[in-house]
Amino acid sequence: MKVLLTGGAGYIGSHTAVEFINAGYDVVIADNFDNASPLVLDRIERITGTRPTLYELDVADAAAMDAMFDKESFDAVVHFAGLKAVGESCAIPLKYYRNNLDTTLTLMECMKRHGVTRIVFSSSATVYGIPERVPLVEGMPTSCTNPYGWTKYMNERILTDAATADSELSVVLLRYFNPIGAHESGLIGENPNGIPNNLMPYITQVAVGKLPRLGVFGNDYPTPDGTGVRDYIHVVDLARGHLKAIEYAAAHTGTEIFNLGTGIGYSVLDIVNTFSRVNDIDIPYDIKPRRAGDIAECYADPKKANEVLGWRAELGLDEMCRDSWNWQKNNPGGYTLD
Ligand code: UFG
Repeated sequence: MKVLLTGGAGYIGSHTAVEFINAGYDVVIADNFDNASPLVLDRIERITGTRPTLYELDVADAAAMDAMFDKESFDAVVHFAGLKAVGESCAIPLKYYRNNLDTTLTLMECMKRHGVTRIVFSSSATVYGIPERVPLVEGMPTSCTNPYGWTKYMNERILTDAATADSELSVVLLRYFNPIGAHESGLIGENPNGIPNNLMPYITQVAVGKLPRLGVFGNDYPTPDGTGVRDYIHVVDLARGHLKAIEYAAAHTGTEIFNLGTGIGYSVLDIVNTFSRVNDIDIPYDIKPRRAGDIAECYADPKKANEVLGWRAELGLDEMCRDSWNWQKNNPGGYTLD
């Protein structure tokens, strides 16, 4: 079975490539390295013993996509490619809409021309907007609070409508919660540009001495310790969810949505304290005002993925903190030449 991973050199894509190769899939990566490093291919090869085929291209480039689809005979696509920074999406919304919608439309048209009918899409819990209650169930109302989120929302709509119109299409929408951690080898991991926006890369950069102190955004939320609660999921568990989703897509048509989370909410201070304990490193922090747009609590009800996909997150917070640090300490500058 040959599978195309768009954005396959990115954080989640690279971990998924490893799991697919280990499961015996033939993996092709299409990436423009806008927010990823070509060294990821070497690392995947070191972990698995197999180098995925690479096409360096922009998924919105229809001619380049057609040439790739002409050469390769894909059985399925996992579509990761996209811009993903919430704050940046508010500053340059048109770039986000242009990129994240163009890539999906071009990909879907290309799949249609080449008779490829199965797609798994990287969506996000961000499409639940400001939830009325938690845990979040797939059927709950969707809405968004920033342009990045709206591009996920719109892409879900585009894919759903395409599957309604074409009875051969199989679409699986995966709503990720908060992926952290890294492959246990320490060879691949999250490599943000500039100062990280997300909690775990910020913590690991404080731990490695690149940043002085963590700012905790608010301790007056209606949560057990007052700090924000999220559903952190090990990126390797998340990657394995894509394997199950591809198997599901091969056996069904139509659209299906799955939350990929653990179902457990941890606070910012839970993460800081667990990271410190597991890795024996102090993380100095200051309480700061709430961050605009943040919500108090967000965690999944993962029952549907458990029951329908037969998938369940298996790695706990200790492993997430251990592996995040293992990646950062082995790669203090991110992906650099060995
Ligand atoms: N936080 C801090 N300090 C930091 C960074 C984050 O206290 O320096 C807190 C936040 O306030 C929040 C929690 O840590 O309570 C998690 O924040 P992240 O930025 O790591 O993650 P978010 O839940 O805000 O965002 C994530 C993804 C988005 C996605 C969103 C909703 O990064 O892509 O979930 O699904 F849109």
